[in-house]
Amino acid sequence: MGRDVIVACDFSSAEEVFAFLDKFEGKKPFVKIGMELFYAEGPAIVKEIKKRGHKIFLDLKLHDIPNTVKKAMAVLSKLDVDMCNLHAAGATQMMQGAIEGLTREDGTRPILIAVTQLTSTDQETMERDLLIKEPIDKVVMHYALTAKNAGLDGVVCSPLEAGKVHETCGKDFITVTPGVRFADGDIGDQKRVMTPAQAKEIGSDYIVVGRPITASADPVAAYERCVREFIG
Ligand code: C5P
Repeated sequence: MGRDVIVACDFSSAEEVFAFLDKFEGKKPFVKIGMELFYAEGPAIVKEIKKRGHKIFLDLKLHDIPNTVKKAMAVLSKLDVDMCNLHAAGATQMMQGAIEGLTREDGTRPILIAVTQLTSTDQETMERDLLIKEPIDKVVMHYALTAKNAGLDGVVCSPLEAGKVHETCGKDFITVTPGVRFADGDIGDQKRVMTPAQAKEIGSDYIVVGRPITASADPVAAYERCVREFIG
């Protein structure tokens, strides 16, 4: 299983994302397409970026009844994405349905990872709004283990949780970690951040990096720096 830097293409139009990707010339970074771009441009944007030779993490965080998620995942699988995700809160049956839907006739499927608790949810919010009283770390590890037992490949988590996820779910269970910043860079609205080198040290499998690359004056140099620090 490969370690890689995934560039979060948080743009709202095809024009912007292509202007950004054109800067990379021959290079083909692994890109993340989120709700904003997908809802603005539809499946065509996935096909177009794929055609240009990029790997794609389609970050749509599905969460619905098992049958609906299974059918939606079958559609995403046909788009030939490399990685997609869902909310572990949808529970085991939904996650199993997702795997069924994603699996192609030849037995292959995109990597499927789960969101545990969103990093925007803290202990207080979880207790007040969701009536979950356990410590948030325990909840996150429990969701990760439930995802693993349902057959998923990994989780999205904070780089600070990646080590513990590997301890709990095994080293082959993939950790995909946003919240990455250069040591000399802007933190922006992220609260708990790590540098690419620290994320490597702690054992993240993939880092998701948005603004440190997309908002840089030289996005290609920023991407290459990320790859150098994370992969070496
Ligand atoms: O620009 P920045 O590097 O903060 O982008 C991080 C990306 O990872 C964004 O697309 C954001 O939505 C996503 N993400 C995150 N925290 C999570 C899950 C996803 O920052 N817990």
